[in-house]
Amino acid sequence: RTTELDSICLKAEVIPVLAIERIEDAVPLGRALVEGGLTVLEVTLRTDCALEAVKRLKQALPQASIGVGTVLTPAQYRQSEQVGADFVVTPGTTEALYRYGVTSPVPMLPGVATVSELMTGWQYGYRRFKFFPAEASGGVKALKAFAGPIPEARFCPTGGINLDNAEDYLALKNVMCVGGSWLTPKSLVDAEDWTGIRQLAREAAERFHH
Ligand code: 3PG
Repeated sequence: RTTELDSICLKAEVIPVLAIERIEDAVPLGRALVEGGLTVLEVTLRTDCALEAVKRLKQALPQASIGVGTVLTPAQYRQSEQVGADFVVTPGTTEALYRYGVTSPVPMLPGVATVSELMTGWQYGYRRFKFFPAEASGGVKALKAFAGPIPEARFCPTGGINLDNAEDYLALKNVMCVGGSWLTPKSLVDAEDWTGIRQLAREAAERFHH
């Protein structure tokens, strides 16, 4: 589990978070990000066409790792498995998700914001977490503090991360990558400006390269 998640997260220091409104955007948007150098994507279940988008992305971009985000229930987790998700991301955790995740062939990055949630996940065997909502939950300071009691845990913070503060998070020893929606601005997506998206991705990929 941990190894699988590490190999995915090591492919990119930055994971774009996608909320795809129009199914026709899925492949050109994903392709622009991957061509820009960001090969790990998270497609959130916040829009109706999200699962179909994952299917198409998996087919069109076999070199990329496609995760499903905003997974709230085991039922959504199963749907994500069925469309070929490489990993699953949850904004928070429930006992049901933690329990389902350990039996699934698809690894889960559970979302936590407190040490208690982290401790619960740790008991289930989870070692890699999403830290969400990062900026609102204490940001860099909170992550530094988490390293006190549980130094082995590693995080992908998301929520309020952007070009200006990503570096501060990536400098922490317990941060493996950061995620966010800043790489897929609605204005560029609505304008189908895939060149603009590719450029944004390239800037992030070059700036935050391992
Ligand atoms: C997520 O689901 O990870 C967040 O919505 C991303 O947060 P952001 O929109 O603040 O980048």
